[in-house]
Amino acid sequence: MRKLTGITLLAAGLLAFAAGAADSEALTSSPGATERGKQLYMKHICYSCHGTVGQGGGKAGPKLAPQPFPYDAFENQMRDPRNVMPRYPEKFVSSQDLADIYAYLASIPAGTKAGDIPLLKK
Ligand code: HEC
Repeated sequence: MRKLTGITLLAAGLLAFAAGAADSEALTSSPGATERGKQLYMKHICYSCHGTVGQGGGKAGPKLAPQPFPYDAFENQMRDPRNVMPRYPEKFVSSQDLADIYAYLASIPAGTKAGDIPLLKK
């Protein structure tokens, strides 16, 4: 049962990513943004709660990738978190930094497709 739930969640995540993938292209265009965003993501310790590739860390922080979300929602969460996440004001994380972190998150590829995992074909 547990295994089945995991597979269901994986499939749901993949579908959500496929649906949002087209939107994620726009902000990754500035050269070096994703690499810079990755460094900022590590520097600001986002990874401690959200995982090094945004995979989420259970109760510590939700999954951030691969599942692009609207930039406005991202910005709101950073400047004015809705619950327990620390706030990241402009003073510490500039708008450019935000855009680059977002570009990094949007660039994280989905894992192997469910249909390409031999075990799932059985
Ligand atoms: C101390 C743990 C912690 C750190 C550090 C942290 N977050 Fe969060 N984050 C959370 C939690 C918990 C939530 C759930 C909402 C809330 O509590 O405000 C969240 C929510 C989010 C969301 C909304 C996701 C969703 O699906 O609703 C985004 C985007 C986000 N964080 C990005 C970041 C980024 C980028 C950084 C680094 C600059 C960061 N977070 C650092 C704990 C953290």
